[in-house]
This record gives sequence, C-alpha cells and structure tokens, in this order.
Amino acid sequence: MISHEKALELLKRYNLPEGLYLHSLAVNKFSVELAQNLIKKGKKVNLALVDLASLLHDIGKIKAKEKDEDHALTGANILINENLAELADIVRKHRLDSVLGNDSPLTIEEKIVYYADKVVDQEFLGLEKRADGWKKRYPNVDALLKKVYPKIKEIEKELI
Ligand SMILES: [Fe+2]
Repeated sequence: MISHEKALELLKRYNLPEGLYLHSLAVNKFSVELAQNLIKKGKKVNLALVDLASLLHDIGKIKAKEKDEDHALTGANILINENLAELADIVRKHRLDSVLGNDSPLTIEEKIVYYADKVVDQEFLGLEKRADGWKKRYPNVDALLKKVYPKIKEIEKELI
C-alpha cells in the first residue's frame, strides 16, 4: 500500500476541488479516530486500510460527474488502476444507498468509512444535520433517507 502523503497526492491528481478535499480530510480524521477507539476496545481493525480508503473514498467524484457514472464505482475502478485494489471494495460500498442492496458494507473497515461519510461533511455534523445538506442538494432524497436511517443506526451501534 501507499503512504498517507502519497494518497494526498493522488487526490490532487484526480482534481478534487477544495471543498471535496477538505471533506476527504475530515472523513479521514473521523474514520481513523473510530478505528483507533475500536482497536482500544479489542476489535481487530486494519488501520492502514481505513486511513487510505477514507482519504480516497471520493476520488471518483470528478471523473464520474464528467462521464455521468456512479462515483463510488468510478472511484473503486480508479483505485484498481492505481494498484490499490485492496481499497476498492470499501470505496465501492460507500454510497448512501449501499446499505440497501446486496453490496452492503460488511467488514468493519467498510462500515467505518461508510458511516464516517454519513456523519461528517467538512466537520462532524451527525447524521441529521448531514442529511439536511443532502435534502438541499437532492430534492428526492427523503424517501431514500427513511430507508437507510435504520441501517445506518445499526452500523452506528456496532461502531460506537
Ligand atoms: Fe464522501
């Protein structure tokens, strides 16, 4: 795997704008804290995997927008092409609706990055405030939110 610094360079190479870069840093910080707390409680968590995947989880955003693709899948494919295939599953499974299908986050590392992205924007907001932001950006997100809330709460219980 690569260093944290190399991952930051990779984010810049894929043209992440400032706001998304700051979001990536904030999700990374929260994910690593979650992982460290779980490790303290005796859980087995791959900290390096959480560190890199959380930092790179939105790496596909710009390319996906240009090509009208699913940003999580695009991100996963970018990572495979960058010889970081071990991060691809975590990134592929971080979409808000990932918890509803049959490609739901299952490993502890997948759940940490999924959850962190749902409660952190450019700082920790918590799920409700974070959802307010989505409602402004995506007018039809309400029905989806009702479905994903219980799943996110389930993951929360496991992580916190
Ligand atoms: Fe994100």
